[in-house]
Amino acid sequence: MSRPPIARASSVAIDGATVLLTGASSGIGLELAKLFAPRVARLVLVARRKERLEALAKELRAARPSLEVDVEVADLGVVDEAIALVARLAERGVEVDVLVNNAGVGVMGMLDKADPARIRAMIDLNVTSLVALTQACVPGMVARAKGGILNISSGAGLTLMPAFAAYVGTKHFVTGFSDALRCDLSGTGVTVTQVCPGPVATEFEETAGNFTGMKVPAFVEISAKSCAKSAFSAFARGRAMVVPGFVMGIVMAFVAVTPRWLVLAYTAIAARMLRKKENALRP
Ligand SMILES: NC(=O)c1ccc[n+]([C@@H]2O[C@H](COP(=O)([O-])OP(=O)(O)OC[C@H]3O[C@@H](n4cnc5c(N)ncnc54)[C@H](OP(=O)(O)O)[C@@H]3O)[C@@H](O)[C@H]2O)c1
Repeated sequence: MSRPPIARASSVAIDGATVLLTGASSGIGLELAKLFAPRVARLVLVARRKERLEALAKELRAARPSLEVDVEVADLGVVDEAIALVARLAERGVEVDVLVNNAGVGVMGMLDKADPARIRAMIDLNVTSLVALTQACVPGMVARAKGGILNISSGAGLTLMPAFAAYVGTKHFVTGFSDALRCDLSGTGVTVTQVCPGPVATEFEETAGNFTGMKVPAFVEISAKSCAKSAFSAFARGRAMVVPGFVMGIVMAFVAVTPRWLVLAYTAIAARMLRKKENALRP
């Protein structure tokens, strides 16, 4: 029996591609840059911290002198900067074959206590700029009948997390958007892969402001390198989604069959506990 078209994997042309990679200055994005670098023709590295991007560019060029590496400094939490980035690339005639939407942040805490400006910037980064970049790159990919989009979503895009409501919302968007876009692009030669990691050892937790004092158990957390490897391999094989890490793979398989009421119930219990903690710390 033949599989339906949506489940069929079509591999992505990575060799010789031009790759636009956001959030390349640390964590998963930095490791992804190192995986793409040996195979692609050009890497456009995007983030706010210029020195870090330049150091990475230098390292990648030294390892493979024929690789073109562009450093693009942009605050993607400001949508106009994402639009300006796209315009700069178009002016220089850069045609993006692979877009990696990796840049993202979380804001931990109850929404009623959070700084509205931080929440808006997170939504603009995780959602609005991601869509703007995708929309700018997809027409060229469709016209050339090849290309791919690799979106770094999160396990938070598949389930709920306490004290992370707006972040969870952004990642549910990325998950729904990625799957729906993959369907819409079916038959065009352009593929969409999403990555839904659990905890990864990066700067994410510190940026999000973990006030709980709780540490993720070591057996659950994976390294940025291992996360990037799973993401790269799933993307290269044209898979729709990957949950990196053995433990998180099992956790997410359970979540997928857990009734919604139960997910809501245990998330609410954990949220009550975290609200008490946050109230004590930030009265
Ligand atoms: N770590 C985890 O546990 C985890 C789990 C699930 C999903 N994720 C997702 O994985 C992705 C990568 O995060 P990470 O874990 O690698 O965290 P990270 O080490 O903090 O890296 C985040 C990257 O995004 C960039 N970035 C942040 N704000 C930006 C902005 N306003 N404009 C442009 N770039 C910006 C950062 O660069 P600059 O600061 O230099 O701008 C950095 O390169 C995110 O989408 C995150 O939601 C992470």
